[in-house]
Amino acid sequence: MSIVTASPKHASIVLPPPETAGKMTLMQALMKRRSVREFDARALPIELLSTLLWAAFGINRPDAGGRTAPSAHNWQEVRVYAALADGLYRYDPAPHVLHRIVAGDLRALAGVQGFVATAPLNLVYVADFSRMDETGAEERAFLAAADSGFIAQNVYLFCAAAGLAAVVRGLIDRRRLAAAMGLGVQERILLAQTVGFPAA
Ligand SMILES: Cc1cc2nc3c(=O)[nH]c(=O)nc-3n(C[C@H](O)[C@H](O)[C@H](O)COP(=O)(O)O)c2cc1C
Repeated sequence: MSIVTASPKHASIVLPPPETAGKMTLMQALMKRRSVREFDARALPIELLSTLLWAAFGINRPDAGGRTAPSAHNWQEVRVYAALADGLYRYDPAPHVLHRIVAGDLRALAGVQGFVATAPLNLVYVADFSRMDETGAEERAFLAAADSGFIAQNVYLFCAAAGLAAVVRGLIDRRRLAAAMGLGVQERILLAQTVGFPAA
């Protein structure tokens, strides 16, 4: 793992290239996809984290900046945050880097269910409404929520193929988590998704 430190708070993790030559077929992954809520506390290896984030919403067409999940109007308004034990990070897909936004463990704030605080990774999907031009508030909220669902399904399928446990979650104290994340008025928490090795 390569950590570039600007300051302790703003350390960035340069992720290794994603491993895109998976061995499981899509049909096999679809057969295995399910929600699992019991996790081993073990941290995810950086290679798995890298490929997971790429599968979630990484760039699969570098020439056009196309992503692994669709988005309305190609707004690409959903930002993927990763709450890890040592901090909250924002995934930056073009350089394939995690930028640390908050130093410290925010996992307990990422949901209201017991496993959230101890599972190694909670992804938080946040809409940046400032990227959604000329759309009414109701339409923006609807489209952003739909867009986050595609990302969550990518993560489910990757986890099924990689032998990881995952559950997408809408039960979140959004106000509390948004404050801890330092989100702006144009940013809205949509969903979260807990990921880790399944409990033995
Ligand atoms: C939008 C959405 C929100 C959900 N929120 C939660 C949640 O807060 N907590 C939870 O444990 N599961 C949550 N789930 C998971 C569902 O309970 C689960 O998908 C459903 O029971 C079907 O099980 P399966 O995913 O194994 O097929 C959510 C699923 C969706 C699609």
